[in-house]
Amino acid sequence: MCYAIPGKVESIENNVVTVSYFGEIKKARNELEELLPGDYIYAQGGFVIEKIDARRAQEVLSLWKEMFFSLQEVDVRLSHLDIAEIPRNSQLSVIVDKALEERDLANEELGYLLNLSEESHLELLFKTANFLRQKYHKNSCCVHGIIEISNYCHRNCSYCGISNHVSALYRYRMTKEEIVTTAVEAVQEHGFKALVLQSGEDRGRDVDELAAVIKEIKNKVPVLLFISFGEIGESGLKKLYAAGARGLLLRFETSNPLLYARLHPAYSLDARLAELRMAQALGYLLITGSLIGLPGQTKDDIVGDLRLAAKLSADMFSFGPFLPSPHTPLRDGSVPSLQELLKVLSLARILDPQHGNVVVTTALETMDKEARREGLLAGANSVMVNVTPLRYRKFYELYPSRAHVNEELEWQIQETVHLLKSIGRAPIDMGTQ
Ligand code: 5AD
Repeated sequence: MCYAIPGKVESIENNVVTVSYFGEIKKARNELEELLPGDYIYAQGGFVIEKIDARRAQEVLSLWKEMFFSLQEVDVRLSHLDIAEIPRNSQLSVIVDKALEERDLANEELGYLLNLSEESHLELLFKTANFLRQKYHKNSCCVHGIIEISNYCHRNCSYCGISNHVSALYRYRMTKEEIVTTAVEAVQEHGFKALVLQSGEDRGRDVDELAAVIKEIKNKVPVLLFISFGEIGESGLKKLYAAGARGLLLRFETSNPLLYARLHPAYSLDARLAELRMAQALGYLLITGSLIGLPGQTKDDIVGDLRLAAKLSADMFSFGPFLPSPHTPLRDGSVPSLQELLKVLSLARILDPQHGNVVVTTALETMDKEARREGLLAGANSVMVNVTPLRYRKFYELYPSRAHVNEELEWQIQETVHLLKSIGRAPIDMGTQ
């Protein structure tokens, strides 16, 4: 199974290579030595991660070629937007026209879209986002694997099921060997090209140990590694970048500083944003976003969240529902609706049609079995697969009944590929530039 297709290097200028995928041209950052025009490579997230043998590349490409074009046809059909379908002379049509022309929407217009509830209006919003997704991202879909390496956390986030509020939870910490073996298997046996290593803010493991894990994985397999260990500070970010990490998954959780302070006593949104900006300055790809439906959050806050994520020019937007977790201060909160979340995903796409990927989060999938499909048809182009060993997965209980918590990896992959094919998406990443 393969989650990327090989591209052919057309030209190289400094560290930027131009790559062709069945004639479609993309650019990627290169850190490999000895790369020449005519070579075949795998790229992920805009980075060249591996040079591959030309014969092997051609074998994979010939397997893909026919399917690639037939999938594209399905995607083009499903993302077709008939202008005649758009009701004229309504506030909605004016905003949709503006979105399609890729003009910046005012906050009031974003708020208006967030308040839509009529079925036909929602359908138009989702179709608009899906159209823009197709226009720039074609049928490519990122499939990233996530390994939850420890559920220890010293922080007090009032919504989180692995926070220090939850004393009854069994805490685990995968050993260095377990993490490396899991990552290497994910790449070698299951074809993952991008992995996220995630944990709570675990004081029991220092950043040098994490750096050693990352180095060892990078020495063993070609993979784009994202880190997601909370706030680790500038020196931590530098060390892990030097070790080979190239992406950071860190949500700002909410763009409202007062709400942030209320949900994270003694912590600040400023510090969170400083961490994101530091990482970006160091060269990390950013996955960020917020929780939707938090108690006390307003529609204006959500507009602010979307704006902030766009302003950070996130490489991937991660917006997920707040799901109340027992034993936390917010255990009695209520769950937002699936539609609310789909609106947020579609607005993320509309605000950044071209650059950012939009992920369907596991929390969204937990809300509704159809959420993954519906999200992908409302502007999203990315999904996560849980690669954490099954014996640990149930203890990474951010909220109850997490999707995929008991599913074997093979099953998740099969289901993912099946879904993607059914809507004409190819599980590849052709770069973000
Ligand atoms: N509901 C939904 N998402 C949650 N997270 C933590 N707790 C919850 C919850 N109760 C999310 C946070 C965090 C990510 C790892 O998990 O947004 O950034």
